[in-house]
Amino acid sequence: MKALIERLKRPSLALKLCAAFLALVFGVVLIINIYPVALARDLVSANKRSSMLDQASLLSTSLGALETLTENGVYQAMELLDTSASYRIIVTDEKAEVLYDNYPVDSSVGKYAMLSEIYLALNSKVVFYSRYADEAFLSRAAMPVTSGGAVIGAVYLSEYDSEQSSLISGISSTMFRLSILLSLVSLVLILVFSSALTRRISDLVRAVNIVREGDYDYHIDVVGSDEVSALANEFNSMTDRLRETEERRRRFVSDASHELKTPLASIRLLSDSIMQTENMDTATMREFVSDIGAEAERLQRTTEKLLTLTRLDSSVEPQLEPVDLKLAAENTMRLLRPLAQEHRIFLKYDLSEGCVVLANGDDMYQIIFNLVENGIKYNTPDGMVHLHLGVRDGMVRPVVEDSGIGIPESDMPHVFDRFYRVDKARSREHGGSGLGLSIVHDAVVGCGGTIEVMPNEPRGTRFVVLFPRYEGGEGE
Ligand SMILES: Nc1ncnc2c1ncn2[C@@H]1O[C@H](COP(=O)(O)OP(=O)(O)OP(=O)(O)O)[C@@H](O)[C@H]1O
Ligand SMILES: [Mg+2]
Repeated sequence: MKALIERLKRPSLALKLCAAFLALVFGVVLIINIYPVALARDLVSANKRSSMLDQASLLSTSLGALETLTENGVYQAMELLDTSASYRIIVTDEKAEVLYDNYPVDSSVGKYAMLSEIYLALNSKVVFYSRYADEAFLSRAAMPVTSGGAVIGAVYLSEYDSEQSSLISGISSTMFRLSILLSLVSLVLILVFSSALTRRISDLVRAVNIVREGDYDYHIDVVGSDEVSALANEFNSMTDRLRETEERRRRFVSDASHELKTPLASIRLLSDSIMQTENMDTATMREFVSDIGAEAERLQRTTEKLLTLTRLDSSVEPQLEPVDLKLAAENTMRLLRPLAQEHRIFLKYDLSEGCVVLANGDDMYQIIFNLVENGIKYNTPDGMVHLHLGVRDGMVRPVVEDSGIGIPESDMPHVFDRFYRVDKARSREHGGSGLGLSIVHDAVVGCGGTIEVMPNEPRGTRFVVLFPRYEGGEGE
């Protein structure tokens, strides 16, 4: 009982659908049962009005020719007229005394007619009145009889018709039976339809709950091709996306912990050695402490890169502004010159004017810095790195080429993956964490651009980036 009350307090979709449909069926049934019957009654009544008034008018005109009305005169005149047998006809003189009555039983001839219709007719009024009661039409009509402008009497017609009304009752009861049948059929249909619909929606709700609990492998069986099936399809593809994201996230967390674990382990080892070695000579001590410093620096760089990636990953829309790539490139090259000198690499660049893109200034710095830094790090002494910045087909096109060690063809598809390093040992040597190119990739895509990597001729690597050019920046 409590459950039922609870359920009624929160009506289900099926219940609402049924209620709405039943209200609709009820309305239709009501109209079907009332309107045609009322219309038929009105039609019958109008028909009676015209035929009875016609008859009364015919009688009134014929009797008017008699000038004075007497019982005999009226009787003879009525004999000559073709009067309808279905009406009771009463004719009175101007004092309402009945001169003629065609009703054989209980004739009122010689008496005074006490009927309001006759009094109205004697006052020069034409009267018609029809009423439906007790399964029959009761109709009355009265009209004055005039001669030379004066009222000399009245004709009165009345009818009791049960035939037409039984016809109308017949129609009405057939309609009633039909509408009961219609209501029952609709009720069954709506119950079947609404329970099928709510079952499918409940399946969806259950699936949402299952996926919310973390089971991303759950799929809904899709049947049909209506809106609910489309919703189920969308749900399945959303679950697939969630699963992929979840897998990526897990891999990322495990890779990141692994990356952080290695330098931490080295730091631990080095500090343990210092602690456990008694009377360690100063030179070794300094060497160990400097190694600890180098590992700590690597940790710092890795965490900074992870933070940059998190920022790029976040769904918060970055603040985009027109950025002149020429200025950004010049500043970045200045910062990288000491590193280039240290590695004996020749930095070369030609930068065109008007390379403006709608982007985040910090992202542009990350892109150029990481690409040129890689060119320097994965190079050989006396090698070169060339940054070319130009516009082609309405796209701003930064290209970074180097004469370095190059990337094997098989590794090229993976270099933008997080923590991916072609030669782990060499990368570590340079303090690399394998995150630089994924930062570049995410930043490029975030600004609506694309990036490609290819071998450079005759040796080395070449990265080509394309950005939509910011047209509003021209002439600024
Ligand atoms: N210009 C290049 N020439 C040769 N190999 C490259 C070049 N750029 C990248 N690589 C290879 O791709 C790998 C990934 O580069 P990425 O910049 O992502 O990481 P990293 O340089 O190792 O570390 P980080 O940039 O995070 O300090 C590098 O480890 C290197 O093996
Ligand atoms: Mg790098």
